[in-house]
Amino acid sequence: MIDLRSDTLTQPTPAMREAIASATVGDEQKREDPTVNELERRGAEFLGHEEAVFLPTATMANQIALQILGRPGDALLVERHAHIMLSELGGPAAHSGLLTIGLEGTKGRFSPDQVVSEIRDRTSVHVAPTRIVTVENTHNSAGGRAWPLGEIDAIVATCREHDLAVHLDGARLVNAAVACGVPTARIAGAFDAVTICFSKGLGCPLGALIAGSHELMQAARRGKHFFGGAMRQAGIVAAAALYALEHNVDRIADDHARARRLGEGLLDAGVNVDLEQVETNFVQIDVGPDRGDAIDRMKQNGVLVSTTVHPTVVRAVTHLDITDDDIDEAIAAIPAALTRDQSRSVSQA
Ligand SMILES: Cc1ncc(COP(=O)(O)O)c(C=O)c1O
Repeated sequence: MIDLRSDTLTQPTPAMREAIASATVGDEQKREDPTVNELERRGAEFLGHEEAVFLPTATMANQIALQILGRPGDALLVERHAHIMLSELGGPAAHSGLLTIGLEGTKGRFSPDQVVSEIRDRTSVHVAPTRIVTVENTHNSAGGRAWPLGEIDAIVATCREHDLAVHLDGARLVNAAVACGVPTARIAGAFDAVTICFSKGLGCPLGALIAGSHELMQAARRGKHFFGGAMRQAGIVAAAALYALEHNVDRIADDHARARRLGEGLLDAGVNVDLEQVETNFVQIDVGPDRGDAIDRMKQNGVLVSTTVHPTVVRAVTHLDITDDDIDEAIAAIPAALTRDQSRSVSQA
């Protein structure tokens, strides 16, 4: 089976398992785990910040970021299909008392004018003051789209001008950096707080970082404990993340090239793919209204894909465990599955 549902599905490689097995560990809560400490040092550098804090998941990193950047009753601005909005169970309201306002995005992005138009009067005794803006890059539900650097710079500048905290949900930041051809720190360094995930394109079993200033990361360490994320011999997992920083960053370009080839191959075979959307490791395929059936038929042909927020669209995501041969097979199997679909619906008509 060629599993293109998500880049979260990677299995740790033998070399990563070797790094895990030989990790030196200690009590992470006491800051005595040398492998976690090294990951936090390297991670801070990688993200262009003073300090980083190791966490089990990117969801926890996002929730901690929002809690430490705002106060209960504040408003958070985020694109309306962002992970924070759709897939974190209303966490900003539940954990941090934030009012989340969804901005209408284009390709997962929004403009400085949209931010400015949602800024509320902080002296009012009625309205929730806008305090935090989150940017998601790459943007998952927009199809792994990457923000152009100039647009990020403009959002950050607007936030600075209006005294708004700015957070980057960079769960797939490495994909964004590779797509833009810049170091991760060039994108992440300008934000107040940054989330990055190790269990997606970087191929680790779990793990995430939040990064920011020393002062903010002191608050993040309290948040980590508060959310139940302070661990013990976590170097076992941090060793995988260190391995990934060393070996799995540059190779993300291969995932992007494979996604591109998949998109081109499918388009050539008459499948409804918009190549302009294929900027990183996601290929969005419009299969029409009978999406569930299309997914089943692809599965029968040996390819797994997943749904998206768009009712007729499925996504195929390339990752560490997908080879060139898998792409060739998928280019043959997906159109065959969809063609059977079309002929069936014609004969039913
Ligand atoms: C943009 C984005 N942010 C955050 C997350 C959460 O990651 P985790 O599964 O590590 O909590 C995801 C997961 O898919 C994501 O796509």
